[in-house]
Amino acid sequence: MMLDRNLKILLVSSEVAPFAKTGGLADVAGSLPKALTAMGNDTRIVLPRYRGVGDFPTVTDFPVKIGNRIETCVVRESTIEAKLEEGGTKPVPVYFIDNYHYFDREGIYCHHDDAERYAFFCQAVLEMIKQINFRPNVIHCNDWQSGLIPFLLKEKLATDQFYQGIATVFTIHNLMYQGNFPKDCLEYFNVGNEYFQPESLEFYGQLSFMKGGLVYADVINTVSKRYAQEIQTPEFGHGFEGLLRKRSQDLHGIVNGINYHEFNPKTDPRIFRPYDSSSVQDKYENKFGLQREMDLPVKNVPVIGLISRLVDQKGLDLIEVAFDWLMQQELQFVVLGSGDKYYEEKLARMRERYPHKMGLYLGFNGILAQRIYAGSDMFLMPSKFEPCGLGQLISLRYGTIPVVRATGGLADTIVDYNANTDSGNGFSFEPYDSKVMLETISRALQVYNREPEKWRRLVVNAMEQDFSWNRSGAEYLELFDLAISKHTKSFQIA
Ligand code: GLC
Repeated sequence: MMLDRNLKILLVSSEVAPFAKTGGLADVAGSLPKALTAMGNDTRIVLPRYRGVGDFPTVTDFPVKIGNRIETCVVRESTIEAKLEEGGTKPVPVYFIDNYHYFDREGIYCHHDDAERYAFFCQAVLEMIKQINFRPNVIHCNDWQSGLIPFLLKEKLATDQFYQGIATVFTIHNLMYQGNFPKDCLEYFNVGNEYFQPESLEFYGQLSFMKGGLVYADVINTVSKRYAQEIQTPEFGHGFEGLLRKRSQDLHGIVNGINYHEFNPKTDPRIFRPYDSSSVQDKYENKFGLQREMDLPVKNVPVIGLISRLVDQKGLDLIEVAFDWLMQQELQFVVLGSGDKYYEEKLARMRERYPHKMGLYLGFNGILAQRIYAGSDMFLMPSKFEPCGLGQLISLRYGTIPVVRATGGLADTIVDYNANTDSGNGFSFEPYDSKVMLETISRALQVYNREPEKWRRLVVNAMEQDFSWNRSGAEYLELFDLAISKHTKSFQIA
């Protein structure tokens, strides 16, 4: 359903592709606003200006009070281009919150003063909209770094006319990263201890930025319906299950989309040979190119790809247990990722043991990533939990069959292949168990090796699915509308 309202939307995120990225959040924050813009809304983005982000023109500057100190915020502006259905493009404004002391450093997160850095960010964003006189209908906050914005709007700014009538949506991309800090950090917001209690920001003896979003946003959202259910249980709730159950009426799930212009095997300049669903045989050229690039023997064996942050969440321990079996099969395994030293070293040792069967690149490499999506036959995601997952969506688009654990967004997007009915778009398994993962990979290999015609149909079917932002963007607009009407009502009651 296409809504006919032209909303003013501000998306707040600590990372936005192509400016700053550690994970999927950046991709969503960089692509959802383009889709919303193409649907006719005035959508703008704001993020911190980290080191290495361009030297964009200054729009304004102002002081921000952090405890008893004053820090200066410089706002800079750039744009990204939204492609319009009818042809042509439209710019999406991107604002950068700049402060040398807080953001001009190596690395995005994990600094000793993250609480102060993002306290500054949240307050600067709210002051910025006033200074530039952009009064959004809805502020869409994402993950803990922007979690205190709904809190500040409700508890500190409610009497300021400019901020009245601004609704908030808080999207959880990963509940595990919560932004919990010592109680003293409350002082960065210049608010009193009355907020350090369970109904407000206190969380197991700490001040929780995540809780700011979960308690105070008009509407809570996460990146798949399944994850929205899962996080209401102790296994996935990371301590927030009670609160989320209490707010379950306000808790929604919208599966992420991907940008179909950027991820298009027909036009992708990064891959070796373009193809679409009518020329899937050209995937072979991409496979051979990938094998050459990864120093693997060039031949037609099934190639399994894995692109991931290397952290516990991603199920790498299952792969470790299954590894020797995997390497005894007639296949190649190509891995791209970075993250915990523990996994980086483990993978490096695995690769040393099987240099002719495994390719490994530790680090970020956007070009190689596309070559893996295009050149692999299967894409492995055995995640312990996965709020949405983008890798499986990009894989489908490139006709690379996902093999996934059915959790979160993986459960919502991948339907297990059924050989009898020839239905499904991938292979999936439920228990978090390396044996079950292996059985599932075996099932996929059997179809690949023994039933090439069925496999080809599976590939074509995968490529013809639609996980663009068309559907999810429209769902976001409905959610924003809901937040706005809830906000208006709560205001009338108050
Ligand atoms: C986080 C989640 C991932 C999700 C992404 C974007 O990285 O771990 O599942 O796809 O955010 O929402």
